[in-house]
Amino acid sequence: MGDNIHIVPTDTLSMKSVFDNYTNGKYAESYEKANADFYTDMALQLMKHVPPGGRVLDIGTGPASLEKALVPFNPEFSVIAVEPSDTVEDAKKVELNFPYDPVRGTMMDAPDLFDLNDIDAMVFPRSPHEIAKSMGGKPEFWSGFYHIDQYVKVGGIVMFADPMYNPSVVSNPELLAAAAEWNKKHIGHNDSIEQMFTPAQVSFELQLLGFDPVYLNVHDHQQHVDEFGVSVNQFFVLTSKKGKKNENWTNYIPTE
Ligand SMILES: C[S@@+](CC[C@H](N)C(=O)[O-])C[C@H]1O[C@@H](n2cnc3c(N)ncnc32)[C@H](O)[C@@H]1O
Repeated sequence: MGDNIHIVPTDTLSMKSVFDNYTNGKYAESYEKANADFYTDMALQLMKHVPPGGRVLDIGTGPASLEKALVPFNPEFSVIAVEPSDTVEDAKKVELNFPYDPVRGTMMDAPDLFDLNDIDAMVFPRSPHEIAKSMGGKPEFWSGFYHIDQYVKVGGIVMFADPMYNPSVVSNPELLAAAAEWNKKHIGHNDSIEQMFTPAQVSFELQLLGFDPVYLNVHDHQQHVDEFGVSVNQFFVLTSKKGKKNENWTNYIPTE
């Protein structure tokens, strides 16, 4: 899978050993727990905003990380999902206690693959930066998104959740260069800052389409740049709710 965190296939290096090294052996607490908290955060957002019998569209479902995190909450809604890579086969094998049948395809294929009427939640779990990359960039991503956002019902949500660089790292070019180098060398993370989304950018774009931001949580993740000793990557979860959009996008009626 084209995850943003790759385990580098060398004889000595694994993500666990790298993070063990940087966290005094506390890999589980510092990375695995952060990762679990991130997916649980998304699952809780869905439980809050999707009514019983509701429909969720997961774009870039990968190995069903979000769906696995939903299991303890026993949702009464169904998840339809697209994934262009071979991980869709792995996802199909995951047994869940709610309807979930991922289909091979991209974000732009979704309207042809499913009946997309009345989507309660359209979710991008750790996938926006990869979708943008595969489409040619963020402008291409947004022009594609402008075609599919119409399928979210009024009162429904869009949820973006993705890694980003810590803003304090971004504001310091020396630190950013060191962080990028660290990521590339240790965990094969090659996404440049231009490919990453930030909650500010995403909520701005979504507000143009009549979605109001209703929830933002930023999770500190792993990674410390040697000589600076700072957290490099953060993961954000941003929920935005669709208002009643008028013809003129500057004048829409928020739902709350
Ligand atoms: C970092 S992975 C995250 C996977 C999964 N959602 C998770 O959280 O584990 C990003 C996923 O986006 C998928 N992807 C890439 N381009 C896409 C596109 N155009 N439409 C939908 N998904 C895409 C990749 O194949 C990959 O599985």
